[in-house]
Amino acid sequence: MNDRVNPAAVRALRADLDSAGYTVERLGELWGAGAEAALAREDRVPAARALSGRDDPAAVLARLFILGLDEPAAVVETALPHLGADGAAELGLITRGDHRIRAAVDLRPYSFLDARGAGQWWIASDLGELATGTALRTDHVLGVGGASVTLSGLLLPGAVDTALDLGTGCGIQALHLAREARRVIATDISRRALELAALNAQLNGITSIEFRHGSLFEPVAGERFDRIASNPPFVITPRRPEVPEYEYRDGGAVADDLVAGIVGSVHDHLVPGGVAQLLGNWEYRAGDDGLQRALGWADGVDAWIIERETLDPARYAETWIRDGGTRPGDPDYEPLLGAWLDDFATRDVDAIGFGYLLLRRPVDGRVTLRRAERIDAPLGEAAAGLGVHLAATLAAHDAAARLDDAGLLALALRVAGDVTEERSHWPGAEHPSVIVLRQGGGLRREVRVGTALAAVVGACDGELSLGAIIMAVASLLEVDAPELIAEVIPEVRELVIGGLLEVG
Ligand SMILES: C[S@@+](CC[C@H](N)C(=O)[O-])C[C@H]1O[C@@H](n2cnc3c(N)ncnc32)[C@H](O)[C@@H]1O
Repeated sequence: MNDRVNPAAVRALRADLDSAGYTVERLGELWGAGAEAALAREDRVPAARALSGRDDPAAVLARLFILGLDEPAAVVETALPHLGADGAAELGLITRGDHRIRAAVDLRPYSFLDARGAGQWWIASDLGELATGTALRTDHVLGVGGASVTLSGLLLPGAVDTALDLGTGCGIQALHLAREARRVIATDISRRALELAALNAQLNGITSIEFRHGSLFEPVAGERFDRIASNPPFVITPRRPEVPEYEYRDGGAVADDLVAGIVGSVHDHLVPGGVAQLLGNWEYRAGDDGLQRALGWADGVDAWIIERETLDPARYAETWIRDGGTRPGDPDYEPLLGAWLDDFATRDVDAIGFGYLLLRRPVDGRVTLRRAERIDAPLGEAAAGLGVHLAATLAAHDAAARLDDAGLLALALRVAGDVTEERSHWPGAEHPSVIVLRQGGGLRREVRVGTALAAVVGACDGELSLGAIIMAVASLLEVDAPELIAEVIPEVRELVIGGLLEVG
């Protein structure tokens, strides 16, 4: 990449990508669902076969910039009529050989749907293993991956003044933040990442992002934000010379200290009421609960952590060794795995958790939220709009926190429209052995409830007060009403916060 990006060249590139119809939808039509799934598995063969022999610009650009195949210079000139091969070389997008052109970066369309509607951008990043056929360089600049999409889908909607993207990489979170924030600062330790991110902002006509070089919060010392987003380099890596340090996933810390450090210092970079959202890993050590350990990192901020999965140390190590391009059977594979397992053994690590962290600086300085949830339900399409659900959960938490038990009992609650109840019976049994409430949207929570709570929830129609319903259920089940109130109130609070019960 070149340091200085020529605005006219970027405009020409934009015009070419636009007129080529270089969109997610068009590529899907060109190569089909099977090839798309193969690409996600790092297999380019089906897509290359589908595009072979086609000379329409979208196919040429996809072969060049996504599949990493070289193309005759004349074909590339035709696919980029405004920019031309010279302009593409000047922008650092291609390298030239004898009459043939090869991509120097990955450049692909990206589409999304957020609270403001649907959108489409083009994103440049480094070419991946699929295109180069070799292990990744340690200064690799990541494109938009599964984790990027997860985090961008979690971002809270709503207009704000300032936002920070910490560890911006190709700039994807900064671009998303710019949909809601008047001004965005994007930081990275990698100058190359910042160049690519700046190109991406320019290419997509986004002018409200400022890019700053430096580690963690150093480039924003003394500054506070309404929103912070970070998909930080959280991968736990042994600090041994033979283990490569990939900038895009490893911040150089020991164990899970990098995420702990960000969580611990986020308070000083948020305005009162400001929210930080991150992805992270945490270790489970010597039989302790790692999720509770992670919750303990939060200092002076509301904290809500959602654990999505846990991996045992071997599985974790295999995943990240493979991610760097070293496969089982490669000479380095077993020594690397050994280094990872040795490192985990020094801290007696039994498992590694992964999930989402939401931290909020309380407006009045009073911490009211300490929430750790384990949710492993597949979120599928729902993941794209989770930010709206998270915002509703925070609002429900705040409302519930303001109410004492008498206030809650006075409310008329209603079962949310996406909640279903599942009852399992032993064969022939009259009463269910298990009752589960399932949330269809949001985080797709599954909540196991007792007979009394199920009866209370079933009667929440938005008209009767919770207190009246509990009294009726107590009389029906012939149990003591004050005891039933004491039993179900904390559970009802949880259902309100989780969005399974709404205020009627
Ligand atoms: C996992 S990538 C995330 C990229 C992008 N934000 C996304 O969501 O896809 C982490 C980024 O953090 C950057 N990084 C690594 N160490 C850092 C540090 N100490 N301070 C700031 N950024 C760092 C890497 O260069 C990389 O771009």
